[in-house]
Amino acid sequence: MDSGAVSEAERPETPAAAPVTGGDPTVRLERVSKHFGDLVAVRDLDLDIGRGEFFTLLGPSGCGKTTTLRMVAGFEQPTAGRVLIEGEDVAGLPSYRRPTDPVFQSYALFAHLGVREGVAFGLRRKKVPKSETKERVQAELERVGLAAEINRRPNQLSGGMQQRVALARALVNLPKVLLLDEPLGALDLKLRKGLQVELKRIQRDVGITFVYVTHDQEEALTMSDRIAVMSNGVVEQVDTPENVYERPTTTFVAGFIGVSNLMPGTVTSAGGGRARIQLDTGIEVEASVDGIQSGERCHAVVRPEKLRISQASGESSDGLPGVEGVVQSSIYLGTATQIVVNLPGDVPMTVLVPNASEAERARLPGGGAPVRLSWEPEHMHVVRESEIRRADVEETVANTTATTHASFGG
Ligand SMILES: Nc1ncnc2c1ncn2[C@@H]1O[C@H](COP(=O)(O)OP(=O)(O)OP(=O)(O)O)[C@@H](O)[C@H]1O
Ligand SMILES: [Mg+2]
Repeated sequence: MDSGAVSEAERPETPAAAPVTGGDPTVRLERVSKHFGDLVAVRDLDLDIGRGEFFTLLGPSGCGKTTTLRMVAGFEQPTAGRVLIEGEDVAGLPSYRRPTDPVFQSYALFAHLGVREGVAFGLRRKKVPKSETKERVQAELERVGLAAEINRRPNQLSGGMQQRVALARALVNLPKVLLLDEPLGALDLKLRKGLQVELKRIQRDVGITFVYVTHDQEEALTMSDRIAVMSNGVVEQVDTPENVYERPTTTFVAGFIGVSNLMPGTVTSAGGGRARIQLDTGIEVEASVDGIQSGERCHAVVRPEKLRISQASGESSDGLPGVEGVVQSSIYLGTATQIVVNLPGDVPMTVLVPNASEAERARLPGGGAPVRLSWEPEHMHVVRESEIRRADVEETVANTTATTHASFGG
């Protein structure tokens, strides 16, 4: 765990957004921790996952996603804290007694069982009548688009088909919660994109709570009702995809989900959901933020696609707030052009300009050109000092610098 600027006890609570659906949460974690010897894999986790919600745990490798999922499933016991499913403390309940079903990255389908028998397995074990089993298996295979494959064997199926069988196999048991650990991780990009949309449709269709684990930011943004962004065993922010992207509350979230421009500064005045921030580079910007005090250190944050770039003129031509700098590099990315602008004080700012037409692209400023960057005031956000991790800020700057160097061929 990175030390950060403030001790654990002083960190303000990040309020979780309200569950998308009403009523009691399906899954509740109360101050759950998991230690493996000296290693703290999960620390003081508090989470409420709503009924029928598509909830995603998102974070880099080793941040504790699988461990969290395994504690819900009953494959691991928490070192401290409580796991409640449908309001019931499930401590000591083995996985097969829990109303949860897991789907993993590479599901161990029974090689010796055909698709039909594999999907029927759970129902047979529960001694569900034969005719009902037949109907439910058929319905579930139709739902995942595999009705035609009912007589095949797993080794006759593609990876994508095997994951659909795994899904049907879990859904047929009508779990309260489906736990999915990188179920699309082994598939190629195109197949993965297709299945993301399909999984979301299926989840809407069945109305079961999905707890989904991925390290892929785009996947999380595409599929989830809400996302818990994790780092080093700690939840950094729980929010809707739009909010974690548009309004990251920590430097980690700002840097992990997409690209962010972070500018250090000090609050000079605050109130009414706005603050004025004196950036260390000398200029002042206004940002959208609640509950911040005059005098607080912070980072102003703005996404690259929210910045407009125009010729420097010493004044605002579009009536918007802005800053001036010098173009350092420009890279063609296909759908957009990425321009890095150096602000006074050697602060790199990344700008993303959609490649709408070749004529527009030709008008973009080249290396060394003095430019003005401007933005709509509501797109400038603030990360408070307690949520600044030095390492994240350094990494963000390093990434920007690395792409800059790459564009110059060295
Ligand atoms: N059984 C175990 N014994 C010891 N350490 C473990 C065990 N399981 C997990 N860990 C450690 O706990 C930390 C969190 O692991 P976890 O598998 O939950 O991460 P993850 O977020 O799922 O990562 P990935 O994206 O790579 O799957 C890691 O440091 C991992 O090495
Ligand atoms: Mg994992």
